[in-house]
Amino acid sequence: MKIVVLCAGTSTEREISIISGTGVCKALRGLGHKAVLLDVFTGLEGADPAAVFEGEYDVDQAAEQISSWNSRIPELKKERRVFFGPKVLEICQAADFVFMALHGSNGEDGRVQAAFDLLGIKYSGPDYISSAISMDKARTKQVFEAEHIPAPHGCTVYRGQEIRTAAEYGLEFPLIVKPCCGGSSVGVTICHNDGELKEGLEKSFALEPGAVVEEYIEGSEYTVAVIDGKAYPVVQIAPKQGFYDYKNKYAAGATEEICPAPISPEKTQELQKEAVRAAEALGVTVYSRMDFRMRADGRVYCLEANTLPGMTPTSLVPQEALAVGIDYAHLCQLMIDVSLR
Ligand code: DAL
Ligand code: MG
Repeated sequence: MKIVVLCAGTSTEREISIISGTGVCKALRGLGHKAVLLDVFTGLEGADPAAVFEGEYDVDQAAEQISSWNSRIPELKKERRVFFGPKVLEICQAADFVFMALHGSNGEDGRVQAAFDLLGIKYSGPDYISSAISMDKARTKQVFEAEHIPAPHGCTVYRGQEIRTAAEYGLEFPLIVKPCCGGSSVGVTICHNDGELKEGLEKSFALEPGAVVEEYIEGSEYTVAVIDGKAYPVVQIAPKQGFYDYKNKYAAGATEEICPAPISPEKTQELQKEAVRAAEALGVTVYSRMDFRMRADGRVYCLEANTLPGMTPTSLVPQEALAVGIDYAHLCQLMIDVSLR
């Protein structure tokens, strides 16, 4: 198959996406596909779409070339009116399939998927509307509430609104503030008093207009992949220091990830059942990864859905797949197969 592995983009997770895309592209080439790595935003300047899949292709070199644009992205974002880089859509149309290795805004949020639907381009992962709802933690919360998926109690605050105290929001410390549509914990703050809550909201508003404030669930953290409507083994995530922030997510060895999680079969089943229910409620059963926290008394809370979960060497879904005998390359193939159904 001719496959474009679409990565990078303009979100706060651009660099993670390049690592995910590089891994996926190499794995797909190893399976015999003609896969190329493409930055959705900068594209391959001047490339002939018909020739992209021909000849020798070095994935690492392509990744390096894409990464060399990283520092110029903020400046380019101001200059450019069209999100898609030159020839990106033509190259995607010349392929049989686009593997979505994008993370964060303009990639994981359904916009690219909606454009692809209109252009007849086949892609991996959830559709545009489910992606859009799942990307927005405020909307996700509404769906979880309507479908009785256990989730932390919280509210949404928008830039420009008066910042109130926790008591005025009807919440108790500790709280966590998250940008509504962020990822990889960028802009997230745990708050223990009203001063920290204000600072946390201001930090989040520097990134985007909406922020979710919710109770911080003290206890342990878990994640469960759902692929083709089926839950995979539970991973327990135990950062050696602090919480599962950007550094602890991507620095090798900073977090212990235990798969299958050392919890009772009953708790494993409960987390898997809630993960499938949450994926069904959001419409993301094709594949996604649900994040949870559990209090010491065993109560579980679904935090969010990740509709284009990380595929880096330290990422979680590849670890879950491996626990049931599916290696990284075959996981990528499975993601393509279920998306094409
Ligand atoms: N947002 C990152 C990539 C993840 O969920 O794995
Ligand atoms: Mg996430």
